Amino acid sequence: MGGLLEGDIAVVTGAGSGIGRAIAVGYAGEGARVVAADINEVGAAETASMISDAGGETISAALDVADRASCAALAEQVARDFGAVSVLVNNAGIVRRAPISAQGADQDWDDIMTVNATGPYNVTKAFLNPLTQTKGRIVNIGSIQSHVHTGNAAAYTVAKHGVLGFTRALAAELGPDGIRVNAIGPGLIRTPLNAENRANTDMEAKFLRQTPLGRAGEAEDIAGPAIFLASAMSAYVTGTLIPVDGGYLTL
Ligand SMILES: NC(=O)c1ccc[n+]([C@@H]2O[C@H](COP(=O)([O-])OP(=O)(O)OC[C@H]3O[C@@H](n4cnc5c(N)ncnc54)[C@H](O)[C@@H]3O)[C@@H](O)[C@H]2O)c1
Repeated sequence: MGGLLEGDIAVVTGAGSGIGRAIAVGYAGEGARVVAADINEVGAAETASMISDAGGETISAALDVADRASCAALAEQVARDFGAVSVLVNNAGIVRRAPISAQGADQDWDDIMTVNATGPYNVTKAFLNPLTQTKGRIVNIGSIQSHVHTGNAAAYTVAKHGVLGFTRALAAELGPDGIRVNAIGPGLIRTPLNAENRANTDMEAKFLRQTPLGRAGEAEDIAGPAIFLASAMSAYVTGTLIPVDGGYLTL
């Protein structure tokens, strides 16, 4: 265990799976006390067990980032039972790939905007007081799609461009309070989010043709940059998005 996040209390949304789980485990490994929050309570509890089995201090919680009352209730619970949150990772997200002409496109648009774009706003608002009190750090999970698009994913592309905009706007607004706000832009990372697409299409092959490092990422590949952005190692970094994409955006 390292100690880069010793004394921090971190909330990770979407911590019940994939990238969120890897970040939660990575943060605990650096000494943070971690709140593993997810709409999937079972997944969040599994993550918390992984952390406590390794000797970390953690709680798991049910959270729907689309529901402001749920976000406020979690903030109250964490303040009461755990303490003042100093790191927030807005990671929860969904993807649905279909052309804009597809049946169901309206619902997909609404759901993706609500979870991926409004979700980070809802959770940030709920935890603003402790983040201000602790001069906290916010890490938003964007995507390569914060800069470019990939096939049949207009809503997701708009939402992830929005995550970059939100990151820049909040960095400017909250910097004077000592809060740093950054983002990570993962490329193709093997998680349950894209398992079906990877199995049923040539999506992975397409990505790899444009990935200099020649492999898909694993969830753990995101943990190091997320630790960096939450720790004092990045004390003078704010308002930026670090691509973690095997070089995808360079080609
Ligand atoms: N996997 C990739 O290739 C990739 C690439 C770029 C960006 N991302 C982003 O990384 C983040 C994590 O994705 P992942 O690949 O780990 O996916 P994942 O499906 O493995 O995990 C996402 C988690 O978010 C949770 N979640 C979904 N809706 C929620 C809600 N309303 N409230 C709370 N939790 C909710 C899910 O239950 C799940 O546990 C997402 O924001 C995604 O857009 C992923």
